[in-house]
Amino acid sequence: MTVRRGESIAFVQQQKIITGESSMAMTRKKVPESRKPVVPGGGGTPKQDRHFVTALARGLDVLSCFRSSDKLLGNQDIAKRCGLPKSTVSRLTYTLTRLGYLHYSEEVGKYRLGMATLALGSRLAHVIEPGLYMALSGDLGSGKTTLTRGLLRALGYRGKVKSPTYTLVELYNLSKLDLYHFDFYRFNDPQEWHDAGFRDYFEPRNVCLVEWPERALDLPPVPDLRISLRVEGEGRRVRIAAETEHGKRCLERLPD
Ligand SMILES: Nc1ncnc2c1ncn2[C@@H]1O[C@H](COP(=O)(O)OP(=O)(O)OP(=O)(O)O)[C@@H](O)[C@H]1O
Ligand SMILES: [Mg+2]
Repeated sequence: MTVRRGESIAFVQQQKIITGESSMAMTRKKVPESRKPVVPGGGGTPKQDRHFVTALARGLDVLSCFRSSDKLLGNQDIAKRCGLPKSTVSRLTYTLTRLGYLHYSEEVGKYRLGMATLALGSRLAHVIEPGLYMALSGDLGSGKTTLTRGLLRALGYRGKVKSPTYTLVELYNLSKLDLYHFDFYRFNDPQEWHDAGFRDYFEPRNVCLVEWPERALDLPPVPDLRISLRVEGEGRRVRIAAETEHGKRCLERLPD
């Protein structure tokens, strides 16, 4: 990791290329009840557990079809490679896309592997501590929610990670900490900040991640880490800067 002292506010800076594919956002259709994946836990029956393991193995089969030389694969190509019926493959690619393991290119109707942003989120999960505030900057579709999803998954959260674009904030009660995920894209009135008591969320017990922090002007505190994502070719470029001592300590411990 390259660590250097910034001239102004940033203590530590880091540049990472996140390889990955399309920047296309998918339109999500509602999954019929019968198509929802079986998830173990809560006392799953042996039959449910068997279904889960089969689905997991098939999901891994689908992901392992992608070789480094492959740019895009369609359901038909994947079905041929893993010897599964196309209808099964379509269900698997649908779920894998929702979970962030695949990206769907609407232009060509095919999939690309895309785990790098999730993986960065998971690396950050190793270093976060209560009280950390991370500002996530970047254009629409640059990967801010995907990174948050990767972080939450690595912290053991198994539910749906929704973009807080309309709700402004989503709360995740995790065993070790409470994580608040904000999205201020639609924020337009500083009064809202005061009325909603947003300031109170930025306290030492909580971890806060904020998408579009610049929309709330200078109302949020100084972030410990500022993570800037940018679409670059088929992947993403990420810059992480520590703006406080707390952020600096976390960034120095970020695993490779
Ligand atoms: N490394 C990557 N390579 C290619 N595509 C990626 C990568 N990371 C994320 N994506 C894709 O970019 C799309 C948009 O991601 P995401 O919703 O996380 O963006 P966002 O920055 O939160 O956008 P918004 O500002 O609209 O909330 C998704 O389809 C996601 O799968
Ligand atoms: Mg988002």
